[in-house]
Amino acid sequence: MATALIILAAGQGTRMASELPKVLHELGGWPLFAHALSSGAALAPARTVLVAGHGAEAVTKAAHALDDRIEVVLQTEQLGTAHAVDQARGALAGFDGDAVVLYGDTPFIRPETLDAMATARQSGADLVVLGFDTPEPGRYGRLVVEDGRLSRIVEYKDATEAERAITLCNSGVVAADATVLFDLIAAVGNDNASGEYYLTDIVEVANARGLTCTAVTCDAEETRGINTRAELAAAEAQLQVMKRTEAMENGVSLVAPETVFFASDTYLGGDTTVEPNVVFGPGVTVENGARIRAFSHLEGCHVSRGAVVGPYARLRPGAELAEGARVGNFVEIKNATLDTGAKVNHLSYIGDAFVGEAANIGAGTITCNYDGVFKHHTHVGAGSFIGSNTMLVAPVTIGDGAMTATGTVVTEDVGPGDMAVGRMRQDNKRGFATRFFENLRARKAEKKGL
Ligand code: UD1
Ligand code: CA
Repeated sequence: MATALIILAAGQGTRMASELPKVLHELGGWPLFAHALSSGAALAPARTVLVAGHGAEAVTKAAHALDDRIEVVLQTEQLGTAHAVDQARGALAGFDGDAVVLYGDTPFIRPETLDAMATARQSGADLVVLGFDTPEPGRYGRLVVEDGRLSRIVEYKDATEAERAITLCNSGVVAADATVLFDLIAAVGNDNASGEYYLTDIVEVANARGLTCTAVTCDAEETRGINTRAELAAAEAQLQVMKRTEAMENGVSLVAPETVFFASDTYLGGDTTVEPNVVFGPGVTVENGARIRAFSHLEGCHVSRGAVVGPYARLRPGAELAEGARVGNFVEIKNATLDTGAKVNHLSYIGDAFVGEAANIGAGTITCNYDGVFKHHTHVGAGSFIGSNTMLVAPVTIGDGAMTATGTVVTEDVGPGDMAVGRMRQDNKRGFATRFFENLRARKAEKKGL
C-alpha cells in the first residue's frame, strides 16, 4: 500500500530561544526535521508533505536541498496538531493509501517501530497510534485503554487526576488511511483547555464511528522530542553514542570513541581505524582498512581502501581519495581527486584539482584556484613530482611524469616529462655575511662607548 508522510514542523519552538526555526537546528549534522524523514524512509513513502509555519521560507529551502520532491504546505497560524495535519488535505486530495503523521522535532523513531505500525494497519486497525510507557509521564497526552482497546487520548491539561495517573503516553505518531484521517480531522473541534484543534481527538471520533483504534508501543527513548537547547545537546550525545556503537559493531576501531564525532550519515567500512579527536561532517564515506589519524575534520568526501588521512587534515566537500592515497598534516583538500597512491603529506591546499596516480605533492604546495570571481582547475599528471612551495596558478596542467622545481610559481602548462623552474636565479655574494655583521657590531660598540 502507498504511504504518504505528513511531517509537522510549523511550531516556533519558543523554548529554543532562537531566530532559527526549531526544526532547522542541527542534530548529527542534519537539520532536525531530516531525522523524521529518515525514520519515515523505512515506509518507502510515495509522497512527503512537510507542514511549515514559523520560518517557512528557510524550512522550505532546507527541505528542497535534501529532496526536491518534498511538498511543503503552509500553516500560517498554529491552531493545533489536527489543524496542522489538515493543511496537507489539499496536497493529498485523491491520494489512495495510508498517511503517517510524524513530528519534525522528534528524531529518534526507529524504522522498526513504523514497520510495527504498518503491520497493525494491515491486521485491520483503522487508526494506529504510537504510544510509550514511562514512569514520568509529565505533560504528555495519555492513552486511555478500555477493554484492551484504545478508546481516547486525553491531553494533560484536560485530564482528571485519575487520567494523569496513566503512564501510557502519546508519542504523536499516527497512521490511518489518508481519506479516513482527513474525515476524522474534519470532526475535531477546539473546545478544550488550550483552545486548540487536537489531533488526539480523532481517536474518540473514530470509536464513535465504529472504527477500530490500536496503540502500538515503543521505547520512551524513541519518542523524545526536542524543545530546548539542553534537550538538543542531550539528543546529540545520545546520537553520538549510537553512531560510535554502530561503527564498532561494524568492525571499525575507535581508539578513543568518546572523542570521535559522527554525522547521521557517516559510513565507515570495516577495519578502518579512527584515532582520537576526529570530526565527521555530513556526507562522508570511508572504505575498509583506511586510517583517519588524530584531529582530522572530514566532510562531504570519499576515502578509499587503505588511504591515510591526517593527523590534522581537513577534507572538504568533493574530496575524493583513491586507494592508498595519503593526506598528511595541515593539508586541506577541496573538490579534488587524489588518484591511487598520490601523496600530499605536508602543509598544502589542493582545491578544484586532479592529482594523478602516485604523484607526489611537496610541502607547502598550493593550488591558486580562485581569482576572486571564478574557480579554476589544476591537473597534475600521474607520477609527477611537485617541488615544495610550488604555487600552481590555475587553470594549469602538469603533464605525466613532469616536475616543478622548489618554489616555482607555475603559470603555464608543463609538458609530460618536463621540468618547470620559475624563480629567481641564486646569486652568492662572497663574504657578505661576515662583513655585514662586523659592521653592525662595530656600530653597536661605538654607541656604548658614548
Ligand atoms: C502533542 C500531543 C500529545 C503528545 C505530545 C508528544 C496533541 C494535541 N498533543 O502535544 O498528546 O503526548 O505531542 O510530544 O497532539 N505543530 C504544528 N502546528 C500546530 C501545532 C503543533 O506544526 O499548530 C507541531 C509542532 O511544531 C511539533 C508538533 O506539532 O513538532 C507537536 O506540537 P506540540 O505543540 O509540541 O504538541 P504537544 O503539546 O507537545
Ligand atoms: Ca512537544
